[in-house]
Amino acid sequence: MVYLASIISVGLIGLTGLVSAHPGHDVKAEAAERAAFLKNAPIHSRSLSQCASKLKSRGHERRSVARRETAVKHLRRRRGIDSAGYYLKARSLTDDLNISHHSNLTGVDLSTDPSVLFGSGATCILAPDVTQGPYYVSGELVREDIVESQAGVPLYLDIQLIDTNTCDPLPDIYMDLWHCNATGVYSGIIAGGNGDSSDEDNINTTWLRGIQASDEDGVVHFESIFPGHYTGRTAHIHILTHPTNETEVLANGTISGLYTTHSSYVGQTFFDQDLITAVEKTTPYSTNTQQLTTNAEDGILAGEAETIDPFMEYVYLGDDVSDGIFAWISVGIDPTKDRDVTPAAYNTEDGGVANANSGAGGGSGGPPPGASGSPGARPTRLV
Ligand SMILES: *[C@@H]1O[C@H](CO)[C@@H](O)[C@H](O)[C@H]1NC(C)=O
Ligand SMILES: *[C@@H]1O[C@H](CO)[C@@H](O)[C@H](O)[C@H]1NC(C)=O
Ligand SMILES: *[C@@H]1O[C@H](CO)[C@@H](O)[C@H](O)[C@H]1NC(C)=O
Ligand SMILES: *[C@@H]1O[C@H](CO)[C@@H](O)[C@H](O)[C@H]1NC(C)=O
Ligand SMILES: *[C@@H]1O[C@H](CO)[C@@H](O)[C@H](O)[C@H]1NC(C)=O
Ligand SMILES: *[C@@H]1O[C@H](CO)[C@@H](O)[C@H](O)[C@H]1NC(C)=O
Repeated sequence: MVYLASIISVGLIGLTGLVSAHPGHDVKAEAAERAAFLKNAPIHSRSLSQCASKLKSRGHERRSVARRETAVKHLRRRRGIDSAGYYLKARSLTDDLNISHHSNLTGVDLSTDPSVLFGSGATCILAPDVTQGPYYVSGELVREDIVESQAGVPLYLDIQLIDTNTCDPLPDIYMDLWHCNATGVYSGIIAGGNGDSSDEDNINTTWLRGIQASDEDGVVHFESIFPGHYTGRTAHIHILTHPTNETEVLANGTISGLYTTHSSYVGQTFFDQDLITAVEKTTPYSTNTQQLTTNAEDGILAGEAETIDPFMEYVYLGDDVSDGIFAWISVGIDPTKDRDVTPAAYNTEDGGVANANSGAGGGSGGPPPGASGSPGARPTRLV
């Protein structure tokens, strides 16, 4: 039995109490800024819905459907999952989080037109990250498999970048992707709220971070694990794009702009609560002692979901979530935009180096030195 996530939008969610979990970690302010950005963004860059017919008529949609279908078959073979007898089944459309699903699929089997399954409805728009809070580390490796030795539910991602001006797929864009591990810790960052902040070794870790270039269909693929959760946030994945004209792959497998990360669009993608709940029941996710925040309680998600659909669509690869998940989304970006980004840390040939001026993480380990007032002392655990 395989479940299909139908297209979702958040209808909105009676949001109460946005959680501010750490000193200096103001989720509420971040959510407000994101919401304001999205409200003020031009209509054409808010949603990809205006691109749907163009993508179809130009054959992009058909190719995406075929690609996703092939990828799932391939992954099943690779993971030794018997695909002969599987049934794809739509997930329940009722949702206790008061999230309305656009799709009303009630049952899908092998005879179902793959375009029903693998067509993309989810449309996430990358928003310039006004607070630049995320634990972004520049200088990560260009690689598809970012798992290293992190344990968790296998997650295969197919992310398609679409130009919101032309509705065409965007090839040759470098995309950074990062997320926390199964127990809610980010690699490469030492900060209060990010796991054990006395663990100095974490500055040199790079797991669950990597970069891929989009192919001629505008698609990047990553192999990872499903993200866990940390206090104040629901499960999410960060993505950030680098403009082609300013990006060069270096001999050591990283990209240019280590200290001058530029012109990037930062966004987050999310997952159905049902899926998160299923994953969180498995180990090692179930060993996470950090407070769980659901989608309905996540202020950042609410800010994004008000105008766009930032949820990934997915199928289970096998009968059980632990067999792995194949997830996809289309992301709209405006490649003419160009902005500076301030990483929280740099991955260099001399190991990880915190950016003292980032205002996010970095600096000393130990408890938040919030009162010191020096730039960079505020350990914004963010989003
Ligand atoms: C959410 O719940 C409220 C109150 O129960 C209800 O009026 C509303 O229609 C629900 N919205 C969705 C999208 O289900
Ligand atoms: C499902 O949605 C389609 C398109 O929105 C609509 O035509 C159809 O009547 C719906 N079916 C049910 C059972 O609600
Ligand atoms: C997540 O990373 C932290 C820091 O390295 C580590 O202590 C923890 O064991 C990791 N979680 C899992 C499930 O491996
Ligand atoms: C790269 O393209 C962006 C967007 O068109 C532009 O703003 C930027 O100046 C260009 N960078 C260089 C180095 O030409
Ligand atoms: C990769 O090479 C660049 C340019 O020499 C250097 O600045 C950077 O520190 C290197 N990164 C790693 C991870 O070795
Ligand atoms: C991080 O890696 C660098 C380069 O290999 C090394 O010099 C440094 O001691 C390491 N830091 C920690 C805390 O392990």
